[in-house]
Amino acid sequence: MGFDTIIVNGTVVTATDTYVADVAISGGKIVAIGQHVPQLNAGKIIDATGKYVFPGGIDAHTHLDMPFGGTTSADDFETGTTAAAFGGTTTIVDFAIQYKGQDLRTAFDSWMKKADGKAVADYAFHCIMTDVPAARLDEMNELVRDGVTSFKLFMAYPGVFMLDDATIFKVLQRTSKNGAMVCMHAENGGAIDVIVQQMLAEGKTAPKYHALSRPTTFEAEAVSRAIALAEIAGAPLYIVHLSCDDALQKVREGRDRGLPVYAETCPQYLYLSLENMDAPGFEGAKYVFTPPLREKWNQEKLWEGLKHDHLQVVSTDHCPFCFKEQKEMGKGDFTKIPNGGPGIEHRFSLIYSGGPAAGRFNVNRFVEIVSTTPAKLFGLYPRKGTIAIGSDADIVVFDPKREHIISAATHHMRVDYSMFEGIRVTGMPDIVLSRGKVIVENDKFTGRAGAGEFIKRATYAGL
Ligand code: URP
Ligand code: ZN
Ligand code: ZN
Repeated sequence: MGFDTIIVNGTVVTATDTYVADVAISGGKIVAIGQHVPQLNAGKIIDATGKYVFPGGIDAHTHLDMPFGGTTSADDFETGTTAAAFGGTTTIVDFAIQYKGQDLRTAFDSWMKKADGKAVADYAFHCIMTDVPAARLDEMNELVRDGVTSFKLFMAYPGVFMLDDATIFKVLQRTSKNGAMVCMHAENGGAIDVIVQQMLAEGKTAPKYHALSRPTTFEAEAVSRAIALAEIAGAPLYIVHLSCDDALQKVREGRDRGLPVYAETCPQYLYLSLENMDAPGFEGAKYVFTPPLREKWNQEKLWEGLKHDHLQVVSTDHCPFCFKEQKEMGKGDFTKIPNGGPGIEHRFSLIYSGGPAAGRFNVNRFVEIVSTTPAKLFGLYPRKGTIAIGSDADIVVFDPKREHIISAATHHMRVDYSMFEGIRVTGMPDIVLSRGKVIVENDKFTGRAGAGEFIKRATYAGL
């Protein structure tokens, strides 16, 4: 019997190495890497000459089928993971929400049901905690045992998701013991709400005021406060969707002091800016998410942060709402625009294009940012996040020369606009494999709803 599949003559790229080799796959795992791997009786041979062979992307921040802002995000686990696969992402970490009064198990079970039978590629969950009486702290340990090893807390959205500092501190103290990671939405929600109310009273209701009501200083302040709380609790901390240089400086200071503080940014903060909110009519609503878009000069600071490891990860915060009927709910009042933007499909190509293709950093750093580091921080490594013997055969055969213009007319996300409409990227996935099965080839989906599996993650401390 030969191998199930061999990817021949590609340039294998990991976070540390770049070399030409054949990669052999059997039973969904990588079983051999070498030169001139025997092809006799192989089920399928993929010629990757001139192409990169990357580990599948890991998007550590998505919101599929999520009720939010009076509606539900437009991609479910089938459409969302399919779009992700087209873009080279083969594992997502989504968020199960614990609503007030619920226990954590209820949240986890309900998101497992949403994904079951639908996901086309593998998935895992963080748990969003919105209400934390003492019993919930013990339930955190149970979830950790079941592979949900990170918890998102909000310092924004008063009355919906926001927790006070005492509660945040208690959760961090617990994660310092159970090995889990807190993912922090860091914005000063109370102060933002004061500005929001003042703006509405002054008749400032257009989408752009969503951004103007959330100054970078309020993001930086919350990042700094979160780091202080984590430091005293002795816990690691992961800042989600960091948007600006002010906040980045706070992460950098913490890391310079040796604290286990990490941060992700998202493609929208690297490619878009406050100027997008000046789109005609109500179109600025397409860019309403939190934290908001910032002044353009922040973009290069974030790219530099990625290059120098002040930022470790790029995730998408994919939270799609259609412009028609969903974003339009906020016509005349920006606070009613559902917060979130679509991006799950284009992370790989946007970061390759702006990173290695633009000469900002090399392909190894690219792999680290989109795959290896999220795998390591969130307990998926080495099963995911690298090309190594024994790892899952989640692989992207990537054409570094292929060009593509991003457009809602051709994307696979179930949403009626693209945040990145008209942007030309260099570098596109040609073939995408999930646990050894080809799920995208020649721009066609060849996978199956329900083929994705829930992945139990190890703890950050168990790395
Ligand atoms: O606007 C955003 N980011 N929507 C998704 C929820 C969140 O805060 O991540
Ligand atoms: Zn958030
Ligand atoms: Zn999010």
